[in-house]
Amino acid sequence: MKTVRALARGAVVASAIVGAGSAFAQSGDVNVYTYRESKLIQPLFDAFSRDTGIKVNVISASSGLEQRIKAEGANSPADVLLTVDIGRIEDAVRAGITQPIKSDVLDKIVAPQYRDPEGHWYGISMRARVVYASKDRVKETALNYEDLSDPKWKGKICIRSGQYIYNNALFAAFIAHHGEAKTEEWLSGLKANLAQKPSGGDREVARDIAAGKCDIGVANTYYWALMLNKEPDRKAWAQATKVILPSFQNGGTHVNLSAVVLARYAPNKANAMKLVEWLVGEEAQHTYADLNYEYPVRPGVAVNSTIAGYGKLNADTIPLSKIADHKKAAANLVDKVGFDN
Ligand SMILES: [Fe+2]
Repeated sequence: MKTVRALARGAVVASAIVGAGSAFAQSGDVNVYTYRESKLIQPLFDAFSRDTGIKVNVISASSGLEQRIKAEGANSPADVLLTVDIGRIEDAVRAGITQPIKSDVLDKIVAPQYRDPEGHWYGISMRARVVYASKDRVKETALNYEDLSDPKWKGKICIRSGQYIYNNALFAAFIAHHGEAKTEEWLSGLKANLAQKPSGGDREVARDIAAGKCDIGVANTYYWALMLNKEPDRKAWAQATKVILPSFQNGGTHVNLSAVVLARYAPNKANAMKLVEWLVGEEAQHTYADLNYEYPVRPGVAVNSTIAGYGKLNADTIPLSKIADHKKAAANLVDKVGFDN
């Protein structure tokens, strides 16, 4: 009975989302749950299928995949979850929907700071949290994160909510570098420099700089490239701004991850492991990072040319798992200084 239900559920998911294909749990096909648009990511999995003869069913949604896998329980057809941001990655682990990936291949290619010490997640590409700055009004070409609290930027900075996962991770990284007391001081200074209440998303930072509401703002690297190359309505926002890769005074540029997780009840585990290891191969790394405008996690793989145009990334070396330890403290400080008020 359980099996019938699992199969039915798999079929519903497949027909609703990938159309004609079927995602029967133990067929040997690998079922990938992802927040990426399936049409964007399908070419990558097509290449895997060509290389290995293993079919991949992509189940794509814009939210709630962790909850869905949890609700599906032991009957879940999910083999692999592709997710982003250390906050969401850790949520998946806490939800109990993962199992350790044991792979010498991954351990060799993915640097320790980009993977879980217990093996529950491995980064497969990186995004940096950087500064967008007005091309006309900002002459600086380099900045430290610490500079964002300098009163010289008073009334000139735009940013989204301090509680949004991307900012939460950046602020947690600040704590990892400087401790809570200094971070509180910095957040108060940054708050005092804001041109407006935190609002919108990362693209709106570029929009508001283009409109003259602020001079600089904090955003992720891939949005700028997307706006420039793929979003004609927003191209002018990218063109009005430049991307600066800031560093911590005692470190590098804060990066976050796009990561792969092996589902706890993966019904096609052997083939799922083949896919996971294939994803850190040279070709897959280039294709995946290029599709998402992210940085490949495998050293030496070429970066998309727009991203390369930002300059050389000197990524911070504090492990993401250590940064995650400070997430709660970062969220508390944001409340304490009234960052979003
Ligand atoms: Fe994003």
